[in-house]
Amino acid sequence: MFQFPGILINKHILLAVSGGIAAYKSAELVRLLRKQGATVRVVMTRSAMQFVSPLTFQALSGNPVHSELLDANEENAMGHISLARWADALIIAPATANTLAKCSHGLADDLLSTLYLAATCPVYVAPSMNQAMWHKPVTQENIQKLKSHGVIVIGPGQGDQACGETGFGRMSEPLEICRQLMADPTAQCLNGLKVLISAGPTREPLDPVRYITNRSSGKMGYALADAAIKAGAKVTLVSGPVSLSAPVNADVVSVETAAQMHAAVMSKAAEHDIYIGAAAVADYSPALMENEKIKKQAEQTTLTLQKTRDILADVAQLPDRPFTVGFAAETHDLEQYALDKLARKNLDMIAANWVGRDQGGFDSDQNALQVFWKNGQKKLAMTDKNHLAEQLISLIAERMEHERHDKNTA
Ligand code: PMT
Repeated sequence: MFQFPGILINKHILLAVSGGIAAYKSAELVRLLRKQGATVRVVMTRSAMQFVSPLTFQALSGNPVHSELLDANEENAMGHISLARWADALIIAPATANTLAKCSHGLADDLLSTLYLAATCPVYVAPSMNQAMWHKPVTQENIQKLKSHGVIVIGPGQGDQACGETGFGRMSEPLEICRQLMADPTAQCLNGLKVLISAGPTREPLDPVRYITNRSSGKMGYALADAAIKAGAKVTLVSGPVSLSAPVNADVVSVETAAQMHAAVMSKAAEHDIYIGAAAVADYSPALMENEKIKKQAEQTTLTLQKTRDILADVAQLPDRPFTVGFAAETHDLEQYALDKLARKNLDMIAANWVGRDQGGFDSDQNALQVFWKNGQKKLAMTDKNHLAEQLISLIAERMEHERHDKNTA
């Protein structure tokens, strides 16, 4: 069932439960972790104890529950420092908006937040809150800050919420949290590989002041660059004009037009192991760029457009080509068009997404993908683009491994 069976045997897992309705799900998490052989100790905030009794966690974990920072008895038995030292992993689930804010700012006014500061082991958080609270910029800033401090964020998922609303903020299911805890943090799936990624839109000039472009923000491609770096790869990012900060540790090549993107990608593709075409490259550009600003004259005017060169198809034609992954942005017949592009452009994989809808696609923080390869496919559900990128990167690593295995046994 799990990625690394046996990896939790005799591991010390410190589960910190903060005060959200999802606290009841953490009881199941304790059961799953123990089933995998882990020893579990539970820390609860005062508000968590309003949702679930400490007795439940004590019975399920087989250990007393810790809640007070300044409890003389607990200090004698196992204080916050020794509890932090004891842990091989700290998982905060559910992690409320308040708990995330405290951890990201280094506040330490209760046992849970003090443990977070004292912990030197890997820390995981499973956020759980109302969808509006999750989307609030300050919460997103706190999440980004925690990620930049090395905290592993699991979820949240999307769906119906206890408050009656629908959206992102549901705590991930205990099985998913357990699975992520079991993913070997040292096993980087793209270790030592070189990945070339295109991102963002292109701009096709009409005259010195006007251009044709599209709604791509670059978020999907930049998230892929981050995820590939996290997975151990050396990343080159060929980026159209976007207003995002460059991923730390990526080699960024900035371009503007489809022709420039073609030249930049083609000059680097052969020296990379993987190419991911996440950019929204113009299919056509003005046949002629006027040197002077075009003057307003007739009631109607006609633009002559010229097909651009297909970067993705050209990469896939290279004799020693990288593992080539395309994107397909579709407003209708997604599967049919994606499969057509996979075959016609001779790709290893294609990640298809709906565009022009309320959610996902261009310029959104979330997206969903339907990924196709020869004789297979996988749906990656709507989630934030960072989480989605991590899933796509591990799927690419998995497919490359399958192809390598198939070639060796052919
Ligand atoms: O940037 P975001 O706001 O985060 O939005 C993400 C996204 C919607 C742009 C991204 O997820 C996506 O779908 N990117 C591909 C968009 C696109 O151009 O799709 P397409 O179906 O028109 O093209 C198919 C593939 O051919 C793409 O991999 C594209 O990069 C590639 N292509 C297209 C034309 C061309 N001249 N050269 C190419 O390489």
